[in-house]
Amino acid sequence: MRKQLKLDAKCLNGFVDSDDFEVIKPEVEEAYKCLMERSGKGKEFLGWLEVDRIASEVLLEDIENTAKKMIAMSEAIVVIGVGGSYLGAKAVIKALSPKTLKDKIFFAGQNISGEYISGLLGVLKDKDISVIVISKSGTTTETAIAFRIIEDFLEEKYDQTEVAKRIICITDKEKGALRNIAEEKGLKSFIIPEDVGGRFSILTPVGLLPAACAGIDIRELVSGAVFQRKTNEKNKGYENLSCKYAAIRNILYRKGKRIEIFSTFSYKLRYIGEWWKQLFGESEGKSYKSIFPAACDFSMDLHSMGQLIQEGERNIFETFFIVEEEEEHAIIPERKDNLDNLNYLAGYEMSYVNKKAYEATIEAHHEGGVPSSTIFIPQKTDFYMGALFYFLEEAVAVSAYISGVNPFNQPGVEAYKNKMFKLLGKP
Ligand code: PA5
Repeated sequence: MRKQLKLDAKCLNGFVDSDDFEVIKPEVEEAYKCLMERSGKGKEFLGWLEVDRIASEVLLEDIENTAKKMIAMSEAIVVIGVGGSYLGAKAVIKALSPKTLKDKIFFAGQNISGEYISGLLGVLKDKDISVIVISKSGTTTETAIAFRIIEDFLEEKYDQTEVAKRIICITDKEKGALRNIAEEKGLKSFIIPEDVGGRFSILTPVGLLPAACAGIDIRELVSGAVFQRKTNEKNKGYENLSCKYAAIRNILYRKGKRIEIFSTFSYKLRYIGEWWKQLFGESEGKSYKSIFPAACDFSMDLHSMGQLIQEGERNIFETFFIVEEEEEHAIIPERKDNLDNLNYLAGYEMSYVNKKAYEATIEAHHEGGVPSSTIFIPQKTDFYMGALFYFLEEAVAVSAYISGVNPFNQPGVEAYKNKMFKLLGKP
């Protein structure tokens, strides 16, 4: 029997009460209805709701076969992309990939650092490599620059036929420079569905091909997402996880809590926090109102951000993402000398101590004026991560509709691009 993601809201006590949930309920219901009936803002970008249509059997098979070939012919695979064409792949690989394969995956295009890319080329110098280049628009500058440099690098290593075998493009069906490149050079390509935006594309080839190359079971990821979609649909009102989470965020925002922290005690979820930041920040940060999404990796960040969270301005709330059944890896040993006075922990799994650190933190922050809720993830498996991705995508859509903005566009990111192109003299 599959378990379910759960939301625990007890640390909202004193900040949010049942009346608050009643007051916002009509807005939540309307937002969810708009999403499901596809009648809200940005309704042409709802392809991600139909996970099983988007990730069809034919597509999954194609991705798995392509990944197998890439793994067989490469000591390293470089995934080029930025934003929604980068963060999902990075998050899923960091969370789930077995080490042997994870170490084969490198990323490029997520910055414009010459130091980074020349360092990367140094690492790849003597390796057989292949490349996945991802861009929905096919024209993103960061991605295009990195791809140009890496294509040159490939051409120095291999002849044209071999180069062509080693590049996979993931882009729009017909638009953009990357599509032209793929057609012109006869490169293998996958399509990013027209009705799925970048930050919602983790369960399309954008996230699935890099994940498959990193040894992740993409069928389990997709099944988890489909399971979560069905579970949410079945659960009415606040039993629906997305509606509950979206309601909590908006209630707290209206009470002056302007910053939300994605807090986790599982270091492997760190990049899920980065993906979450983009998903919520870019979807909701519009019309000059928004919750600022931040992420903390505990217990590391308790020693850097902990002071501010405990005693800084009281405009913060937290959402904890906790894996219920952590794999066991290390037991704290007993020592005869006990010079560090740590024998009281001897024999305990580190995961036990980590769990106590979570319990202590959530209580201390609550007492310090930081309300929080916790999303419990049964296990860190491909299936439950798929469920988590889908849940968060649905939750952000509902949440943005409650606050009255279009979750699926990002007009604001053009401002820096226009100025940069002017400075660079782009024709
Ligand atoms: O969510 C989004 O749409 C953006 O973050 C894009 O993914 C990002 O700008 C990269 O765009 P593209 O895939 O067109 O290169």
